[in-house]
Amino acid sequence: MTAPTRTTGTAFAGNTSAGTPGSSAELIRAEEPVLARNYHPLPVVIARAEDVWVEDVEGRRYLDMLAGYSALNFGHRHPALVEAAHRQLDQLTLTSRAFHHDRLAGFAAGLAELTGLDMVLPMNTGAEAVESGIKVARKWAYDVKGVPADRATIVVAADNFHGRTTTIVGFSDDETARTGFGPFTPGFRVVPYNDLAALEAAVDETTAAVLIEPIQGEAGVIIPDDGYLTGVRELTRRHGCLFIADEIQSGLGRTGSTLAVDHEAVVPDVVLLGKALGGGIVPVSAVVARREVLGVLHPGEHGSTFGGNPLAAAVGSAVVELLATGEFQRRATELGEVLRAGLAALVGEGVTGFRVRGLWAGVDIDPALGTGREISERLLDEGILVKDTHGSTIRLAPPLTITREVLESALKSLGKVLG
Ligand SMILES: Cc1ncc(COP(=O)(O)O)c(C=O)c1O
Repeated sequence: MTAPTRTTGTAFAGNTSAGTPGSSAELIRAEEPVLARNYHPLPVVIARAEDVWVEDVEGRRYLDMLAGYSALNFGHRHPALVEAAHRQLDQLTLTSRAFHHDRLAGFAAGLAELTGLDMVLPMNTGAEAVESGIKVARKWAYDVKGVPADRATIVVAADNFHGRTTTIVGFSDDETARTGFGPFTPGFRVVPYNDLAALEAAVDETTAAVLIEPIQGEAGVIIPDDGYLTGVRELTRRHGCLFIADEIQSGLGRTGSTLAVDHEAVVPDVVLLGKALGGGIVPVSAVVARREVLGVLHPGEHGSTFGGNPLAAAVGSAVVELLATGEFQRRATELGEVLRAGLAALVGEGVTGFRVRGLWAGVDIDPALGTGREISERLLDEGILVKDTHGSTIRLAPPLTITREVLESALKSLGKVLG
């Protein structure tokens, strides 16, 4: 299998003077007094990137095995996406939605066709798409289902991750994410993930929607049993409530299909997209849904200054075109088998378990060998960028443009740091 056509040169002109102003150490120190400490990044300062490779300010090269939590599914600066952005920068970048612009209809039509749904509500970040999906579901419950005013409920799964707004962290069970940020929005019921009986018990006549990740990414790439998504579809249909699939991390090629729900040939009422929709260039998210659902919104009821802006629409359209070829989904499927085989060989050699779907893996490391953070730091020393999720679990999600050889070399490096 060959990589999609692109320039693969990695000859960046790096700053090689470690310790001088502008060195990695200096830049990390310079952040401390002026930057909110809501992240704990690995100690690497990236200055340039191309495809699967990034380079720090000293000119050291790293393989990106995180891909911006799947925002970089097409690699860094994919030529078709950069070209689309450049072309649009020379024409028109922002109008607000007070006016029409010439890129929006094409973007919405392409995305609706790609997902098999009807209408698009363009937003910017993933959390905004989730918030928008929640608002739309509530409005649908009142206007279409006939739930009494302010009584709508939404059923979500334990261990979910849907973003960081106050409403969203209010129904998270991650204490670090929620403690200190209350009071929270009412109207959410939490049930165990991958448990149809618990879901059935939680759904009643007030239920507007069931909101789940088809695969729980931040929880450690947790893949539900075969039949779970089909069961959620059947149950929500039977109870007359919406099925909202948060595909912000799992969607757009990552799992070997356009959407993760495609693995069970399930069509939700609402799909939330983000991350890779912006091609790693601009923040682009969207609520994509059936006409009956998004049709509940009227002028003035929801909006965003930047949502669906011309630059976002141009890049988003180029992303849709890349996915329409099927090439990235195919690569994720084929290379996912390489990933699976490589991880299977490490079980008992430092890996205690793993889950793979497409080019996406949660890898449980023997806690005796270190925390996920420590393993990530050791991989950084080997020139590999990954991120821990919880405890001793790390997540592997390289750009879908990675070659088999490079993937195998990354798995070898993992074996080395565990050995
Ligand atoms: C499933 C899921 N939903 C929503 C979000 C939030 O996206 P954003 O960080 O763009 O707000 C994420 C981010 O990791 C996610 O994985």
